[in-house]
Amino acid sequence: MTGKLYEQLVADTIRSIADGVLRPGDKMPSIREASCARRLSITTVRRAYSLLENRGVLEGRPQSGYFVCAPHSSTASEPLVMSCPEPVSSEVDVSRFVLDTLKAIQSGQVLPLGAPYPDPALFPWRGIAQRIGEVARRFSEWSALNDLPPGHPGLIRQIARRHQGQGLDVQPAEIVVTFGATEAINLCLQAVAKPGDTVAVESPTFYVMLQAIERLGMRAIEVPTCPHEGLDLGAFEQLLQRQRIDACLVMPNFQNPLGYVMPDEHKRALVELAARFDLPLIEDGVTNELYFDGQPPRTLKSFDKKGLVLHCSSFSKSLTAGVRVGWALPGRYRAQVEKLKFLNTRGTSTLAQMALADYLEHGGWALHLRRVRQQLMQRRDILCAMVSRFFPAGTRMSQPKGGYLLWLELPEGVDSLELYRRALGAGITVTPGRVFSNSDLYRRCIRLNYSYEWTPAFEVGFKRLAQIASSMANAVSKMG
Ligand SMILES: Cc1ncc(COP(=O)(O)O)c(C=O)c1O
Repeated sequence: MTGKLYEQLVADTIRSIADGVLRPGDKMPSIREASCARRLSITTVRRAYSLLENRGVLEGRPQSGYFVCAPHSSTASEPLVMSCPEPVSSEVDVSRFVLDTLKAIQSGQVLPLGAPYPDPALFPWRGIAQRIGEVARRFSEWSALNDLPPGHPGLIRQIARRHQGQGLDVQPAEIVVTFGATEAINLCLQAVAKPGDTVAVESPTFYVMLQAIERLGMRAIEVPTCPHEGLDLGAFEQLLQRQRIDACLVMPNFQNPLGYVMPDEHKRALVELAARFDLPLIEDGVTNELYFDGQPPRTLKSFDKKGLVLHCSSFSKSLTAGVRVGWALPGRYRAQVEKLKFLNTRGTSTLAQMALADYLEHGGWALHLRRVRQQLMQRRDILCAMVSRFFPAGTRMSQPKGGYLLWLELPEGVDSLELYRRALGAGITVTPGRVFSNSDLYRRCIRLNYSYEWTPAFEVGFKRLAQIASSMANAVSKMG
């Protein structure tokens, strides 16, 4: 699977329209011409064209062929830059929202646009299942608690190799295996700060960060964040001069939810700023493997000379979330994180670690990732085109450079919590902007997951969501 062939044709057509190569009213090549030119079967081209027609991208005219439609709305391409006041305590029970969304998705009865993980169907679960089966038969190796922290040596070696392949010189002795990136972030935070301390985060930030800070009795302070380049370094430096900050949690690559990549000069500057203030930086790198421009992005860790960067990652976004295996590269805090890992959960499932180590050694992960990146890029293009076409005029969206998440800012007055509720009532999940901040700044934003295949059922659900958003926007504009 290099992405399904019809999906590729759909994505290419949408890209050509976005680039202006195809304009409204242009006639498309006939099904036969397209089939010859692209060496695709007639059925594949027909399926792609009819999907594009259902999506309102093409119009089929009897006896004449297919034509490019005019766009439905003019949608800008980036969310606003938002300023960020002092955080207020949240009235939204974030954990409740997230858990309810996950349970709804697990039921298989709802459209998973609100899913926090990429579509599991993208991953080579058969290969992983096979390794788990093989490893499970080696009972004497996994039955006792043999893999005390830092973790299984075979897996640690594979993680080090993976980082080295991305240009980050990591030695096995630096790694602590954890129960997903969630545990890595929690342990790192505990290693560098204590209850009552203040932790700086991006605004908006991924809710796991806010939950970890809250759970540990710390205080979050949100730093203004540019939707293209990340943390506003000028504002952050002023904050550091003004008040004590004990740690900073950041996601410089394919940030969740905004999708940006912090430019390398900014990464360097942030690490230098942290060094000046002796500030630990906890870096979330869970989606670093899901880049679209052919090159892995650089990490903050790669600029770190003082051991102040604690890099956290996992296999949840690039292989499978089901095994719950992650890791930390805690720099100068390694000993504390290892000890905390032991106190927290003693170890991570030996069976899961051994199976992953086996899979990574023999399973063709690099090839698999190449395919996944291509599919995700195509699906991003499709969702962006669909949002432009069907969401209410005035909707703005991010331009993710990797990962699988799109951030939308809806027209003034549309409340994303209300949208979340109405959508869920219609069998559709979305993630409301409210859970990404302790402030109320993202009241009209939502996060969508674009990693799922565009089946006809998906299409119907998406259009229904756009309809709900449009009717809410219309109601607001009438009131205004
Ligand atoms: C940005 C980010 N960090 C961390 C996590 C947690 O990852 P894990 O499932 O490995 O605990 C997630 C999961 O959704 C995430 O999106």
